[in-house]
Amino acid sequence: MLQGEHGEAKALAMKLLVAVGDIFDAERMIKVKSVQVSGVSYKTIGEAGLDFLEDLCRKGAEAAVKTTLNPAGMDLTGWRRMKVSSDFARKQLRIISAFKRMRMNITCTCIPYFIGNRPRFGESVAWAESSAISFANSVLGARTNREGGPTALGSSITGRTPLYGLHLDENRKPSHIVQVQSELRTDLDFSLLGYALGRKLGSCVPFIKGTNMGRNFDYLKTLGASMATSGAIALYHIDGITAESHLIKERDLHFLEKISIGKSELRSVKEELTSPESPRYVCLGCPHCSLEELGTVAKLVDGMRLKRKLWCFTSRKTCEKAEKVGYVSAIEGAGGMVIKDTCMVVSPLEKIGVDQILTNSCKAAHYIPSLSKVQAALAPLEECVRFAVERS
Ligand code: F3S
Repeated sequence: MLQGEHGEAKALAMKLLVAVGDIFDAERMIKVKSVQVSGVSYKTIGEAGLDFLEDLCRKGAEAAVKTTLNPAGMDLTGWRRMKVSSDFARKQLRIISAFKRMRMNITCTCIPYFIGNRPRFGESVAWAESSAISFANSVLGARTNREGGPTALGSSITGRTPLYGLHLDENRKPSHIVQVQSELRTDLDFSLLGYALGRKLGSCVPFIKGTNMGRNFDYLKTLGASMATSGAIALYHIDGITAESHLIKERDLHFLEKISIGKSELRSVKEELTSPESPRYVCLGCPHCSLEELGTVAKLVDGMRLKRKLWCFTSRKTCEKAEKVGYVSAIEGAGGMVIKDTCMVVSPLEKIGVDQILTNSCKAAHYIPSLSKVQAALAPLEECVRFAVERS
């Protein structure tokens, strides 16, 4: 591939992967089963990204393995009701068309593991999107490094990734023990815990004790998303919950540094990420809403009339399922919107009239003010929905 025997695009992609492999002293390349590509929104990749993707197409790039995509900058079919400009939409649709020509699946979601790209335990993959990486490594026990858009594309085109980092057993062992000393009751508590942990530990592999949780996928997805936002944690273990925790023996934990996280840390993260303004929009779905979360929202708003805007971001596939069971009609009947293919962070919120939002996600509250100058405040999912129902 490197020598161009399989075409220009593969040679270019392999050159990039070899360079990364050299930096990390990878011994060789390995095959990957699937790829999650980030850098799909026109808002985040701009003109340069669009040119790059179209150039890759001209060079004959095609996915060699199952490849799914991160959210785009708009609902691909419902962008007009989001009030996205036609200029932005035209550029976004060109990006999507480039991915289509490269035979990638136009999933446009950060929860590929809920919609058919669910790696098995021990399987090597090359995923971008920090929240999905965390879920794949920690909850599913698959193996991926923190890929960026270009390296994930390289892995899609070649079906390979360099063997280093979290593909190796020795780097998957816990490096710290975290004792949680606060009762975690809501989705937001898990999000706050992840954020506090990421900030405290930067990049490492925590072994978390004391979370008093069952195997709740929604809590795990928000926990991992926050850890990867304030820090660079791509793998965590929770005693008795995550995929590899049963492989960790008490003796492996003996000499590890111990830290504890309590109520005051969670409270200070919440204060730090909350702006004092009164939000006019409620945005849920960072990471994208699961079917269960849409079900919770639907139940809370069914038959009501919302007083504030309520936007729920999810994947197209999850939305289709939610339509079948009546969740979408309950939410939209109350005046809310279920928005597919995009999210509150990578869509041009500020250009479509959004100025302040209430959300249940530390990741969203972290990125939104810096990327779009929109103010954010935090509350658990159920409180967010009740806020949308209340009179202002
Ligand atoms: Fe997903 Fe967008 Fe949040 S990609 S994790 S919903 S920033």
